[in-house]
Amino acid sequence: MSLSIIILAAGQGTRMHSALPKVLHQLAGRTLLEHVYVAASRLDHRQIQIVYGYGGKMVPETLAHLQADWIEQKQQLGTGHAVKLTMPTVPDVDNVLVLYGDIPLITFETLHLLVKAAGSNGFSLLTAYLDEPTGYGRILRDPSGNVTAIVEEKDATPAQKEINEINTGMMVVQARLLKRWLSELKNSNAQSEYYLTDIVEMAVADNIRVNTILPESITEIHGINNRAQLAEIERYYQLIQAQHLMRHGVTLMDPSRFDLRGDLEAGRDVRIDINVVIEGSVSIGNNVMIGQNCYINNADIGDGAVILPNCIIENAVIGAGCKIGPFARIRPDTRLADNVHIGNFVEIKKSEIGSGSKVNHLSYIGDSEIGKNVNVGAGTITCNYDGENKHKTVVGDNVFIGSDTQLIAPVSIGNGATIGAGTTVTKDVLADSLTINKLEHKTIKNWKRPGKKKS
Ligand code: UD1
Ligand code: CA
Repeated sequence: MSLSIIILAAGQGTRMHSALPKVLHQLAGRTLLEHVYVAASRLDHRQIQIVYGYGGKMVPETLAHLQADWIEQKQQLGTGHAVKLTMPTVPDVDNVLVLYGDIPLITFETLHLLVKAAGSNGFSLLTAYLDEPTGYGRILRDPSGNVTAIVEEKDATPAQKEINEINTGMMVVQARLLKRWLSELKNSNAQSEYYLTDIVEMAVADNIRVNTILPESITEIHGINNRAQLAEIERYYQLIQAQHLMRHGVTLMDPSRFDLRGDLEAGRDVRIDINVVIEGSVSIGNNVMIGQNCYINNADIGDGAVILPNCIIENAVIGAGCKIGPFARIRPDTRLADNVHIGNFVEIKKSEIGSGSKVNHLSYIGDSEIGKNVNVGAGTITCNYDGENKHKTVVGDNVFIGSDTQLIAPVSIGNGATIGAGTTVTKDVLADSLTINKLEHKTIKNWKRPGKKKS
């Protein structure tokens, strides 16, 4: 026996009021559907099939990287109809796990228990007790507590609406039985839909016991129907992530003002100040400090680095002991070796900077290779673009570049060279030389500035 996993994701999500299918909305930087997929794919399984519909190819194209088969449901005729579409590739001996693409916080642990509860020839349902069960299908039980049916809110009698045990929608059913029951579904109900939930009554008629389990936390079964719920789940999820980081040695100055939209691997004694957003895949060494309002996307930050407030770092490697900011922008394909200082209002793009070098004020360094222990003076600009092509600037070790220098690329500067302040460097510079532009310093004595005109 093996497990076939079905994720239902064909619905529009009308209440999102969005052109984007609901399952593509993001929670902590990942689509809702990916959250479900990640939990499900940890189970031992044969295959994952995802039923899509609203938005057409948008869902399978956006999530083409998932290891899943995509099944189109052109018309959303109900959950039973959706599951039926996936049956052709499911072997009779399998168990089938049905999940919803808009219930993102379901955990591997709960799903594992649900699979176990079904056994090899059975049926298990994930149910929950809600104070406010409105909208959900209700679980009907006989006097001895056995499940007898699920009744949808819209088909329920007033007495049934009082029941607060609900159907989360997630279930495991033996495939051979499921196929038979699905073929017998009718849509004679309030919504004229083929309800997957009707198979419960069929199971009971066939003397198949329906086992139920409860999730460990009620948040696991919260579906997203509107943007307010999405925001609520986002905050909840962020807090869970923050608590996890704090338990592993990260200080968050305020866990409610920290956002992780991806994966963060952090060392010990990392201190993260408020309003920091971390996206993609980020790793941070030990003893790193990150100041307020930093945005860090896909970066690798070495031990002891200090990122001062208001920095943006994207697709970059920051060496150990570097000091960045405040107000620095480190753009993609930048590699800073150890102990590099990048100061305020400095932009670095697609450049490598050697250890101990400093670019402390108001500079733009692009398409460059800068050696070790270089001092780049304030306002230095690599002029890397001629309007058509980008060109490279190469600076050797121990170079001193005076303030307000322009390096017109392609250009290279030899080791130990000195460039005077205000120089426009248009040719390659020899090692250990001094380069200055011929600038006359002229003084006119007793100079009178023009007075203000009388009106
Ligand atoms: C369903 C259950 C209800 C349960 C609730 C939990 C049925 C008949 N009812 O009701 O008992 O309490 O979920 O949230 O199953 N979908 C498709 N194709 C379709 C219809 C739905 O892919 O034709 C997908 C939706 O995108 C969604 C999920 O199935 O992810 C549930 O559909 P929805 O219409 O929200 O079902 P509910 O009426 O909420
Ligand atoms: Ca729903």
